[in-house]
Amino acid sequence: MDYDPWHHGISDMSTDNSEKPPNHALSEMRCPASLDDVDLFGPGSQEHWYEAYDILHAEAPVHRLPGEGLSPGTDAYTLSKYSDIARVVKDPDRFRTLISAAIDSVRPAIEEANAAGREPDLPANTNAMIISMATLRPTQQLYRAHRQELTDPWVGPGATRHTEMITRTADELIDSWIDRSEIDFISEFARPLPQAVLAAILGFPREDLSQLAHWGNFQVMPFVEGNGPRNKLTREQWTRQAEALEDFEEYVQDQVAEKRKRPKEDMITFLTQVTYQALGRKLSNIEIIGVVYAMVLGGLETTQYALAEQAQLLCDAPELFQELQRDASKRRSFIEEAMRVRAPTQGLSTRLTTRDEVFQGVHVPSGSLLHLRFAAGNVDPEEYPCPHRIQLDRKRVGGHLSFSQGPRICPGAGLSRIEQTLAWERLFARLENLRYAPGNSFLHQPGIMLGTLKLAVEFDPRH
Ligand code: HEM
Repeated sequence: MDYDPWHHGISDMSTDNSEKPPNHALSEMRCPASLDDVDLFGPGSQEHWYEAYDILHAEAPVHRLPGEGLSPGTDAYTLSKYSDIARVVKDPDRFRTLISAAIDSVRPAIEEANAAGREPDLPANTNAMIISMATLRPTQQLYRAHRQELTDPWVGPGATRHTEMITRTADELIDSWIDRSEIDFISEFARPLPQAVLAAILGFPREDLSQLAHWGNFQVMPFVEGNGPRNKLTREQWTRQAEALEDFEEYVQDQVAEKRKRPKEDMITFLTQVTYQALGRKLSNIEIIGVVYAMVLGGLETTQYALAEQAQLLCDAPELFQELQRDASKRRSFIEEAMRVRAPTQGLSTRLTTRDEVFQGVHVPSGSLLHLRFAAGNVDPEEYPCPHRIQLDRKRVGGHLSFSQGPRICPGAGLSRIEQTLAWERLFARLENLRYAPGNSFLHQPGIMLGTLKLAVEFDPRH
């Protein structure tokens, strides 16, 4: 059976969707009718992204953004075809990551200082994450080793070890509202679950959760509040972010010191003890802080968006809720298809061309910035017939771009998939049904993530 999320409900059954206005009805920006109207980054653009992708696929699959390149006089290009995006992310030598440019700029100073046994003299805005990337994973080979040795055991394939903790956390959240008939699904489930899970994995005390969430908001600020293809913040926003993150760095520093003194069963303790085989040595405090920082940046919010979109897809199609409740074997396909049609991270401007390239017949000069529009690639009709439809029996389900692909594919994909699976396992076990409560606007937050601001839902508990 097919589900067509943008036409609210199951294609061959009628459902009452009178509660839900079209995604774009309340936006500040007009729904694009032609290429001239397409703007993926302006205020309110979030309400029309998927209409814009259809236009881009038909008229400008490689879309130039004049003057949006990294250096003056260069351009950025939005890639919206599945095959182009996949080609770019699978070839890191030819399409450099922006972060590797940042790493190369600080690496000589760090290496020189290490050899002389002194602190490196770095630009003021160099944070622990860049430093740890420069020392622990500056090359492709070390990038792989870093993932295998340091993060995979906790947030990659090894994340199955958290099954019991994630299940318990999901149940505790459900316990806190199961006696009510209406909740905000986002602030009472989709958001706190991944936050609590990540804090537990890293080993942060539970009572620090709200403070951590506060710092987390600052960390992801460019992706949530930033403007344009480069997620730019205003000077005032940068200053606020820098101040908040200084406190966060101090906090993590204290946590690392504490774990060195009193080891526990958590990822930070592991990072204080492990010998990084690729370099044959232990990690310094700043390196551990850098790894933690990357985990919080990548993992604090993203799964929230996936869960919130899945809840909406299920409110749109009550039959699908029941089908998945009955048949657990279909849930994996649902989760993957939901991430495909509603990618949490819609796009990232993280790659540079290192030579002249041609995409879809369009010449893209060397040194151009590429905006990889994962969400558009996921609904490319050349890759996915009936691209906007959820098809539980799709071939290569899970082959979408939402976690990217290739050697730099999201290192937390394993954890996120497990979290989503267990979250729905508990929700299907404890809720009879799920439907929209009145009063939803379905408006989205600014920035590059697909984040519905609020989602009032009603349910009947399952007895
Ligand atoms: C639905 C949830 C998630 C989505 C959609 C997502 C998506 C992505 C994407 C698109 C990238 C960019 C990959 C590239 O540049 O090719 C990325 C990178 C990253 N993600 Fe995720 N992610 C999710 C969950 C997580 C979680 C749970 C964690 C950690 C616990 C995490 C940690 C990271 C990190 C550290 C990176 C940067 C890797 C690097 O340095 O190259 N992510 N993620």
